[in-house]
Amino acid sequence: MEKIVSLAKRRGFVYPACEIYGGFANSYTYGPYGVELKNLIKNLWWKMFVKDRDDMVGMDGPILLHPKLWEASGHTEGFNDAMIDCKKCKHRFRADHLVEEATGQDLEGDIEGMEKIIKKELVKCPNCDAFDWTDVRTFNMMFKTQMNGYEEDVYLRPETAGAIFTEFKNIVDTMRVKIPFGIGQIGKAFRNEIVAGNFIFRLREFEQMEIEYFIHPKTKWEPLFQNWLDLQEEFTLRLGAKKEDIRRYEHPAEKLSHYSQKTVDIEYKYPFGFQELFGLAHRSDFDLTAHAKASGEKIEYFDPVEKEKFVPHILEPTFGLDRAILTALCSAYNEEDVDGEKRIVMKFPNEIAPVQIAVFPLLKNKEQLVDKAKEVYAELRENYRCEFDDNGNIGKRYRRQDEIGTPYCVTVDFDTLEKDESVTVRDRDSMKQERVKLDELDKYFESKL
Ligand code: GAP
Repeated sequence: MEKIVSLAKRRGFVYPACEIYGGFANSYTYGPYGVELKNLIKNLWWKMFVKDRDDMVGMDGPILLHPKLWEASGHTEGFNDAMIDCKKCKHRFRADHLVEEATGQDLEGDIEGMEKIIKKELVKCPNCDAFDWTDVRTFNMMFKTQMNGYEEDVYLRPETAGAIFTEFKNIVDTMRVKIPFGIGQIGKAFRNEIVAGNFIFRLREFEQMEIEYFIHPKTKWEPLFQNWLDLQEEFTLRLGAKKEDIRRYEHPAEKLSHYSQKTVDIEYKYPFGFQELFGLAHRSDFDLTAHAKASGEKIEYFDPVEKEKFVPHILEPTFGLDRAILTALCSAYNEEDVDGEKRIVMKFPNEIAPVQIAVFPLLKNKEQLVDKAKEVYAELRENYRCEFDDNGNIGKRYRRQDEIGTPYCVTVDFDTLEKDESVTVRDRDSMKQERVKLDELDKYFESKL
């Protein structure tokens, strides 16, 4: 993990935020290559799950939503985690995580059980080894704020899903959607996590890509559920993850919310072990019914063929964007031994590589080489994500592009000008070089990329 964090900073993917002030609350900034990677992953998701499907539409709702929405969804009352502090070193922990590390048991939500285990089994503070705990207390994870004109507290949304439920009626009334159909949305979510950490795995400000998929209550939902899981896994593979690093974890029946018939997590093997990447839940009619009740509005669907009104059930595939980025970074990271030297190379799949082609003049101080390389660069950048680099020797430039994960480097040299109107194309993974004619370059990359 340390190596990945270090590369992410060194190469402009992810910086610790506000470093000049000593950092701030485990928050991060996506740098120039990081934001490219982020946008590419968002676009891939949007294309795969919204644009290319006839049964999906998109939307973009606000971060600040009516406080009644969070009451109706149960977040104001119940979106809590359990925390405990070490009285000696003042470190704060998620009580359920302490229990899980000590005993392997998942006691999320069971405050008494956690208290008993931590105090009876003499669980020591992982930071200072002391055994001197406060009581376990619950903590609501929503960020509160104030809004002009409103007396009551307003919250930053803890998930993007909320706005989809409140716009269901508008979308049904204004679009030509027919059940089964889904609504997709990408945006920021905020959770005042007790302990943020593991780089961009657990953040307090993060981004989600969520789908609410509406089905008839009598539909045989199991095949649809299976299909969404398969698609979530396919998306994970497109991020570059290996099949053996992905697994599914079904939440045990006794842990499910009362309204959920089934919840499955897609887990990825991060350097710190298998952890949740994405999730899929069957939420029955809980959300639409709760919002109808709290708002006094009827939220129903009318089937004009069957002449039938009903409250749809929901399948919810949810994706954490920052975890998707972390998965892409971890999957791409490779160290290789090349002639006794270590080569670090990010093997991103072509469709999410922030730079696809880097163009170099062999030498910086030969005007003709630089001009020709700039010409090649200007042409290629019309169709590909390109970068021009004339700094340092070619070996160093290759090493830099390897760490950015650029699949191809093109070098303009003296032969290009004087002999063969060709350039050297170097492949990131095989490191093999070949000469390609300038007038065939576009076609060459069309087939490669
Ligand atoms: N609407 C359902 C929902 O929000 P969730 O399992 O709480 O479900 C969905 O969150 C996804 O959001 C997770 O699978 C994860 O990828 C991401 N996520 C949740 N909390 C996060 C955090 N603190 N930091 C980064 N990503 C997070």
